[in-house]
Amino acid sequence: MKKFILKITAAGAIVASLAYCSTAKKITTTAVSLKDAYKNDFLIGTALNTPQIEERDPKAAALIPVQFNAVTPENCMKAENIHPQWDQYTFDLSDKLVAYAAKHNIKVNGHTLIWHSQLPQFARRIKDVDSFKTFFTNHINTVASRYKGKVFSWDVVNEALNEDGTMRKSIFLDKIGDGFVTEAFRLAEKASPGTELYYNDYNNEQPKKREGCIALVKKVQAAGVRIDGVGIQGHWHLGRVPFKDIEESILAYHALGLKVMITELDIEMLPRNFQGADVNQRQASNPALNPYANGIPDSLLQQQAADYANLFKLFLKHKDKITRVTFWGVNDGQSWLNGWPIPGRTNYPLLFDRAFNPKPAYHAVMALKK
Ligand code: G3I
Repeated sequence: MKKFILKITAAGAIVASLAYCSTAKKITTTAVSLKDAYKNDFLIGTALNTPQIEERDPKAAALIPVQFNAVTPENCMKAENIHPQWDQYTFDLSDKLVAYAAKHNIKVNGHTLIWHSQLPQFARRIKDVDSFKTFFTNHINTVASRYKGKVFSWDVVNEALNEDGTMRKSIFLDKIGDGFVTEAFRLAEKASPGTELYYNDYNNEQPKKREGCIALVKKVQAAGVRIDGVGIQGHWHLGRVPFKDIEESILAYHALGLKVMITELDIEMLPRNFQGADVNQRQASNPALNPYANGIPDSLLQQQAADYANLFKLFLKHKDKITRVTFWGVNDGQSWLNGWPIPGRTNYPLLFDRAFNPKPAYHAVMALKK
């Protein structure tokens, strides 16, 4: 009989020990990690929150550089945080993120230049079209040029589409018209040449939204403006991962000459009554919707492991088209899904548990590379 023992060392490396119980012979194999296991396939990323950027939690600080070679700021580069007033920018945390990534040889994906959500109050209040265009231009120029040569890529535009593939009725559409997407890419390219430029959305693996996304990309390309990739966010649900739609979308976006990224991956374990990741959508609180507050059955963790394994099998099949797979958070306790769409729940969407221990899903993803 043999069993694997996995432990996180002080340096954050996961050491696999193959212990043979019958013979008491113990073989310690090589230290392994997600980024190393997938180093010939695609980057493995995570979203970072403020304490993680500032390396305030020793366990997170030890684990992140061992497991991941790409990071996306979860919030600090969003307009509300980085550009709080017309003539005021707050770069401290984003500068720290860039320095942190350089220190650990990690690639940064900037997130995000143009998004209707988490916009600063002053921008929402601008009535005059010319002033709004000036805000739009100044924001992209200032933020993208500050991190020129320091971030590997930008989510230039985030979530500009409705579920049926039409353009979302945002302040950008209202004030600038549907050319705002092309204009954002044009400005980003000018401010930060050499940085990869992506369009990012959730549910854009779904057929109708995918069609809208393809149309949007073609419009940018037809204008002679550079767009390098499409991010499929990947906020999916246990037992309901849309594998066929994901594969068709990887092929469709690649056929446009684009790189494909999975940019915000998590597999949610709790019930809710709608799909997607529109942060403005909420659901009423109800104890029945928080069934695993004191722990989750192993059977569900095994099902999650199977879902993650099938996803990574698909990603490996298309590794010539996929350049990065980023998880939206480091461990379960830090996931946004504990607070949305219902606050105060206990969710389990990632590969590491609340104590930073690898979950069955981690082992399943690693087992594909053995
Ligand atoms: O920083 C403030 C704090 O000062 C305040 O006291 C507290 C009170 O609510 O709020 C804090 O801000 C919160 C912020 O996260 C930082 O924790 C916001 O309320 C909260 O709305 C915000 O949520 C973020 C969400 O985007 C909102 O836009 C999540 O952390 C973040 O994971 C999520 O990320 C998005 C991607 O950017 C785009 N795709 C969907 C994805 C999930 O919604």
